[in-house]
Amino acid sequence: MVFLGVNVDHVATLRQARKGVEPDPLMGASLAILGGADGITAHLREDRRHINDRDLRMLRELVAIELNLEMAATKEMLGIALEVKPDMVTLVPEKRQELTTEGGLDVAGERRKTADAIKRLKDAGIPVSLFIDPDEDAIEASAQAGADMVEIHTGYYANARGQQAQKELKRVQASISLAKSAGIMVNAGHGLNYTNAAQVAKMPGLRGLYIGHSIISRAVFVGMKEAVREMRDLIAQASAGACA
Ligand code: PXP
Repeated sequence: MVFLGVNVDHVATLRQARKGVEPDPLMGASLAILGGADGITAHLREDRRHINDRDLRMLRELVAIELNLEMAATKEMLGIALEVKPDMVTLVPEKRQELTTEGGLDVAGERRKTADAIKRLKDAGIPVSLFIDPDEDAIEASAQAGADMVEIHTGYYANARGQQAQKELKRVQASISLAKSAGIMVNAGHGLNYTNAAQVAKMPGLRGLYIGHSIISRAVFVGMKEAVREMRDLIAQASAGACA
């Protein structure tokens, strides 16, 4: 069955709106686990706009399922990852002005930097995933750089409509197949919600989906546990027929 990683950044975003102590992403993570999440993701950004260092350290104490740290491949973040030891790291591009991660990593353009970061993390026993666009060159560059996994950016699909959405779905499926044949595990994420996630979840060869905003948005009305359970059920149903 396709794995569901729940991103709790948006719980911290709400907390930061008042710069107080609630809602706490740790409580969000606990309830996501009770709702059936397979993993918890947190993105420690350079500007600490949502998740902060304390959140990450406490998540490491709390989360016994997969803890995925999203981060930029900077010296500071590598130091933190090596100290906190998440179960995996997803390297993402980061721009200060962006509302959320906008595009995938330029693995080919930053080959050396990416390969060095992967090596340092892997030497410490931390598997590494690269967040990349659904693009052949990016997949080949990821395999060459030594990534264990890639996460295919589904934002282009999520933002497209009609025929264009179908084209984008095909790009995602082709990328999953290519990454599989290159021997790397494949995840997908960004912009997925209760309407569009099933189309991706049913793709053969997919390991997991990483979803944040839509789950936290639904949780405001139905509660975190229920929101995660609904997504979990939807993914389980969609992926039941797909073969790895
Ligand atoms: N994967 C990556 C690499 C991301 O940066 C994000 C956004 O934080 C997500 C998945 C989740 O995206 P969304 O919040 O749109 O579900």
